[in-house]
Amino acid sequence: MNAQETNKEIESKVKNLLSEMTLEEKVGQMTQVDFAVIGAPEKQNADNPIDQTKLQDAILTHHVGSILNAPYTPANKAQFIEIWRKMMQTVQAVAAKSRLKIPVIYGIDAIHGATYTQNSVLFPQAINMAATFNPELSFKEGEITARELRSSGLQWNFSPVLDIGRQPLWPRLWETYGEDVHLVTVLGTSYIKGHQGDDFSAPNKALTCLKHYVGYSFPINGKDRTPAWIGERMLREYFLPTFEAGVKAGSPTIMVNSSEVDGIPGHANYQYLTTILRGEMGFKGFTVSDWADIKNLYTRDKLAASEKEAVKIAVMAGIDMSMVPFDFSFYELLLDLVKAGEVPLSRIDEAVSRILMVKYQAGLFDSNTPVLPVEGNFATAEAIETNRQAARESIVLAKNANNILPLKKDASILVTGPTANLLSVMNGGWTITWQGDEESLYPQDKLTVFEAIQKKSTGKVTYVGGNSFADKIDIQKAVEEAKNHDTIVLCLGEKPYTETAGNIDSLNLDQVQLDLANAMIATGKPVILVTLGGRPRIITAIAEQVPGVILGFLPGMEGGEAIADILYGNYNPDGKLPISYPRNTNDIVMYDHKPIEAYEPNAYKPLYPFGHGLSYTAFQTSGLTVEKDKINRDENINITVNVKNTGSLKGKETVLLYLNDVAASVTRPNKQLKAFKKIELDPGQSEKLSFTLTPYDFSFIGVDLKRIVEPGDFKVMVGNEAVKFSVTKK
Ligand code: BGC
Repeated sequence: MNAQETNKEIESKVKNLLSEMTLEEKVGQMTQVDFAVIGAPEKQNADNPIDQTKLQDAILTHHVGSILNAPYTPANKAQFIEIWRKMMQTVQAVAAKSRLKIPVIYGIDAIHGATYTQNSVLFPQAINMAATFNPELSFKEGEITARELRSSGLQWNFSPVLDIGRQPLWPRLWETYGEDVHLVTVLGTSYIKGHQGDDFSAPNKALTCLKHYVGYSFPINGKDRTPAWIGERMLREYFLPTFEAGVKAGSPTIMVNSSEVDGIPGHANYQYLTTILRGEMGFKGFTVSDWADIKNLYTRDKLAASEKEAVKIAVMAGIDMSMVPFDFSFYELLLDLVKAGEVPLSRIDEAVSRILMVKYQAGLFDSNTPVLPVEGNFATAEAIETNRQAARESIVLAKNANNILPLKKDASILVTGPTANLLSVMNGGWTITWQGDEESLYPQDKLTVFEAIQKKSTGKVTYVGGNSFADKIDIQKAVEEAKNHDTIVLCLGEKPYTETAGNIDSLNLDQVQLDLANAMIATGKPVILVTLGGRPRIITAIAEQVPGVILGFLPGMEGGEAIADILYGNYNPDGKLPISYPRNTNDIVMYDHKPIEAYEPNAYKPLYPFGHGLSYTAFQTSGLTVEKDKINRDENINITVNVKNTGSLKGKETVLLYLNDVAASVTRPNKQLKAFKKIELDPGQSEKLSFTLTPYDFSFIGVDLKRIVEPGDFKVMVGNEAVKFSVTKK
């Protein structure tokens, strides 16, 4: 099929359909409600937890175009796949009875796999996927997630998060691909391509939704849904490019920043939602509000004087669909506004056309398409193996003094700490439930760190700890047990969370964990620190005293197996940090800091820098060469470098290529990641890698806020080497 022709055909279908629609039907299309609005809470455990009367009221009386979420907010829980299939059939069957038979688009948060379908394959969270530096794995995660959603009867995923993670306190840092623009772009677009393919109407593909446009991830105080202050240059240089890339990669929907930037709430920002998103980026799909955020313009932000005014402001700023989510107020208020001439019909037609366009593109109108079979598409052995490989590649070996790791298989090990024997701490929020913290609902066959060590060890393994994150650990007992063991594996970190429930006041670990760590160090036995959790909690004093540090973050359902594989050397670690790991709570400096931050006492001195990650073998890069000393400003440049495995084990290495603009009219970062490649090498093997940088890579946002390439010298850096070239005016 010729995609462009298809779009033309679709455009005319949309036009025809729109011409038949009443105002009520149009405004209904722009309305999205939560499952609670159609659910039957009394039928919690029934086969089909939908209330037919409520469903008909929503779709037939209020004409709603979209529904979201799993039963029942706020305690949403994963359902059996058969129930999902039935629920979605029930929803579409009612939509098919509506006057114009417009299908419902159903949205779900499936940010590391099909969160709300029981026994789905749940991948490492985005921060871990970034640590793999492996776009192929991100592509596969997208593919598998789409298949699992489609076999659940679902089709629209509120993922990926393309916010960049530059505020480590923020309780959603782990939902991002880290602090670097290039890394987020590469991992995010690979995910979209895997998820959507070339045609997201295909039976095994599903729609993505970029979120949360834009600036949500950078709250100045670190708390969720608090203000960001982002100047236009910073916005254009750091926050917009990832979304621009997501739009180019074909994502048809965008969810909006729930908070505010420079005093303007995301949902009221005409410049971002219309001038930039439509005018500059050419986005053709539809925008959806975040949770209750149109109401919030009135109730929370005090930007609007009434809820009605809030609806007007948001729709006129460029919101096409409102995640209301619990009532029909948006529908009613918007109807009034159009009837009173306060919102022009042309704006309604524009929004509805965009929504219908996406519904057609997604094949939702083809009611005969059978739902993807579960067999062969859901929780396949191959998908589970891909997940395990992703988990292995997502774990960072940060310290390995005197090659304390890998451990001998017969070593006797004491495992302790609040994250040692729970699955939830490896998965984080959006796992089975919204907060991901219902350990009892986790699959019985997956292994915690302790269980996986026990499985892979031939020696004595003892666990001292509680059954939940909050349980107080008997430190005295752990100290006593340590005497009978060769090594201590100490698992610290965070309980699962997302959004405001994860707000914290300090990156410090709580005192209970510090006391346990100090007691374990004081035993004199070698301690391997394993951290799990969504943020870089401060571990400096511990890390300095222990020989081994593994940073696990949120490696997903296969995390226990993966960590044990690394501990025992069944897998040679290759993960690298996608963020700068701070040394102290207020030492928040990114790797791509400005020259003014490179001097004492401002210097960048994280505990572990961006890109850090050890292996059980060693790699060396050499022979960094640029193809030419001089290029014109519209030319590409090729760069080559050799990489060699100089150790004695097979392993994977990610070669990172950084660029520095030596002098410019706007201060430039000391270095910026512009390209990377991950390769596997046998001991002694070497390979020559080539990279091509384009004028976009040399560009920056100039004095007049336009993207420019400025002539001058550039420095390319790989490993310990640096080479220069210059860009000339022509
Ligand atoms: C979150 C979004 C999510 C939405 C729907 C909001 O509270 O900010 O990331 O997609 O809920 O569940």
